[in-house]
Amino acid sequence: MELTHDSLQRAASEHLLLHFSRNGAYGPDRTPLLVLDRGEGPYVFDTAGRRYIDGLSSLFCSQIGYSYGAEVGRVAARQLERLAFNTNWSTAHPPAIELAERLAALAPEGLEKVFFTSGGSESVEAAWKIARQYHLANGDGQRHKAIARRTAYHGVTLGALSFTGVESMKEPFGPPPIPVRHVSNTNAYRAADGRDEQAFCERLLDEIEHTILAEGPDTIALVIAEPVQNAGGCLTPPAGYWKGLREICDRFGILLAADEVITGFGRLGEWFGISRYGVSPDLITLAKGLTSAYAPMGAVLVSERVAAPMYEDKRALLHGVTFGGHPLSAAIALENIKIIERDGILENVRSLEGHLQRRLEDLRALPIVGDVRGAGFFWAVELVQDQSGTAFDADQRERLLRGFMPGRLLEAGLIARADDRGDSVLQIAPPLICDVGVLDRIVEMMGEVLTDAGRLMGVQSTGLAEVA
Ligand SMILES: Cc1ncc(COP(=O)(O)O)c(C=O)c1O
Repeated sequence: MELTHDSLQRAASEHLLLHFSRNGAYGPDRTPLLVLDRGEGPYVFDTAGRRYIDGLSSLFCSQIGYSYGAEVGRVAARQLERLAFNTNWSTAHPPAIELAERLAALAPEGLEKVFFTSGGSESVEAAWKIARQYHLANGDGQRHKAIARRTAYHGVTLGALSFTGVESMKEPFGPPPIPVRHVSNTNAYRAADGRDEQAFCERLLDEIEHTILAEGPDTIALVIAEPVQNAGGCLTPPAGYWKGLREICDRFGILLAADEVITGFGRLGEWFGISRYGVSPDLITLAKGLTSAYAPMGAVLVSERVAAPMYEDKRALLHGVTFGGHPLSAAIALENIKIIERDGILENVRSLEGHLQRRLEDLRALPIVGDVRGAGFFWAVELVQDQSGTAFDADQRERLLRGFMPGRLLEAGLIARADDRGDSVLQIAPPLICDVGVLDRIVEMMGEVLTDAGRLMGVQSTGLAEVA
């Protein structure tokens, strides 16, 4: 096949099943499919040569952007020439061992053991199995349930789907294999008591405690949550929330997992987003940014205490995935860590977070913007019909988020995410290498698109003049 823009559009519509997409919507005579051909810094270029700012880091992955290919490629070639593959099944290889050691050194206190996977869903499922084995080894086999939060996304393979709190993704596939109770997330904007941070936090923690008591505390194995929840739109926790979760879990003998598939590896300006909230969880799940997606990889970090039974005489860890800890991916993850340290990438996020927040807060001048929230390089604006925050209904969301925004964002030259797994949001998570100029341009583009969106939806708008 000749790889022209047109032939790729045609072949994609004929053969490539797109994930989480209305496959029939794309094609040569329908909506053009965004086919990316090349990347450079925070920019990507499509097969027609158009440049976009990758304001979503290719689905929260590309922490270091796209200009490290030659450097990472040299490391990859060296590893492939030396040892293309070996598993971590009762055997190992230097890159996996070195990476496990590095991750343990970077992780919050007590997380010393690392189990490698190929991606986020696998990490979540592995964390669950490790938690179960821990409880079984302690004679607590009746702990077979978990607690997660509404609207949270923890993956969609069947085990991980149990934890995901988005009903529309679960319902077609029948009862989930793991019994998970879903509790309120930390959307302060939509909570009646959300403006009183302390009252909001206490109510959320009370709800979790009551759920545990209602289910039977000794039936709960795990609480899993993201430090900042992605689905629903960058839901930051109220002050004290994570310390409260830690205390409740300790009191009832429940393990606490931080799902850092998005928030890990610098997204919040720390190696692990949970460090911002001052607690050490028992388990951390990772993927995406671990290699900056120069290769697929995931991991579960496990505390000494939770891993201890797996080291007892004659007891095996009853889980494994062939490609978990692939030497190519492990070598690339090590290089990714080196680059993040050498090029001051966490420092970049920390120093620009305040500026990005201030610029985004200016968007509140647009009547379609009801809320602005997030942390690090991970932000959402919630879109509303009016100043009292009325949410868009299903028909309006269809028109706005699926009909209008994707095309208009691309026309502006920005890849960002219009999403309504919760209420309507526009999300950004730019590469962590972005400078002030690129961040400013992202916010300007959002302003242009949201001004037009407001007009389209009849939300009274005086336009960008108010945002300047
Ligand atoms: C918090 C979280 N957990 C788990 C997953 C699942 O990861 P994957 O798509 O790599 O299976 C995702 C994916 O976006 C995620 O955001």
